[in-house]
Amino acid sequence: MKIVSITSGKGGVGKTSLVCNMALGLSQLGKKVLIFDGDLGMANVDIFFGVHPKNNLQDLVDGMPLKECLTSAAHNVDLLAGGNGLYSLCHLNAFQRREVISRLSDMNFAYDYLLIDTSPGLHDHVLHLNSVADDCCVILTPDPSSFTDSYALIKVLYQKYKTQKFSVICNQVGNEKLGEQLFLRFAEVVQQFLPVRLSYKRSIPFDSQLKLSNQLQRLILRQDPKSISSVAVKAICMDLVSQQQLTPSISNGVNGLDSLFRPVSGHA
Ligand SMILES: Nc1ncnc2c1ncn2[C@@H]1O[C@H](COP(=O)(O)OP(=O)(O)OP(=O)(O)O)[C@@H](O)[C@H]1O
Ligand SMILES: [Mg+2]
Repeated sequence: MKIVSITSGKGGVGKTSLVCNMALGLSQLGKKVLIFDGDLGMANVDIFFGVHPKNNLQDLVDGMPLKECLTSAAHNVDLLAGGNGLYSLCHLNAFQRREVISRLSDMNFAYDYLLIDTSPGLHDHVLHLNSVADDCCVILTPDPSSFTDSYALIKVLYQKYKTQKFSVICNQVGNEKLGEQLFLRFAEVVQQFLPVRLSYKRSIPFDSQLKLSNQLQRLILRQDPKSISSVAVKAICMDLVSQQQLTPSISNGVNGLDSLFRPVSGHA
């Protein structure tokens, strides 16, 4: 089971939309997916799928067997719901957090992917969830505060957990080319100051159809599989399955990617 965390420094960048649609996309490729709604206390993956979990993370923490805490969200997609409005869940201690991850890891042979939707920001539980992922995927948008908040998240993850490998998806961009350019600008800044390695997955264009689908509590991959965002999400799923890490081939005056991918010794 490959663990992929979908995370961000800034809120509202599209993490939950991506996690839900990716889960659907991976299931369409024949994969079994477990989603952990790690937006603790403010969880909403169940709403995106239109399901009503009987049990959630709180029950797991209280000792219920994991299998009984899961909700079937779609064909080959199960969900460990995070519980909404549960204050205690935002304050799990380190032991409880480790226990949750250990119980999820026990499902190693039952699922191909564990997708973790995190809260935005630098909370301890966000950092911990990202630190256990095989693929810590940061969602970046063209918003300047997304740029600085993503930098902050990567810096703190490196400082606290020595995480050195990150992947980046640029969301809500004008087109793929602009997404690549956004990634290059970001990677240049990050790798100038931090000894980490960033890989570019892909971009997802701004898609008013996706926004509309979300408002109707429908997943864009179901609602409009040919929409520009559906096509991008399906490509991300195919890359993931084929273990491909794409590197953009453009050189737009920011030194080229080779130098960006070289480890650097400076620290911010
Ligand atoms: N590619 C896109 N095109 C257009 N709108 C998008 C796109 N991706 C996400 N959105 C919109 O952005 C808003 C935030 O999306 P979402 O809830 O998935 O973000 P989030 O990162 O999970 O937020 P939070 O940090 O609050 O958990 C929603 O209105 C969603 O429809
Ligand atoms: Mg969310």
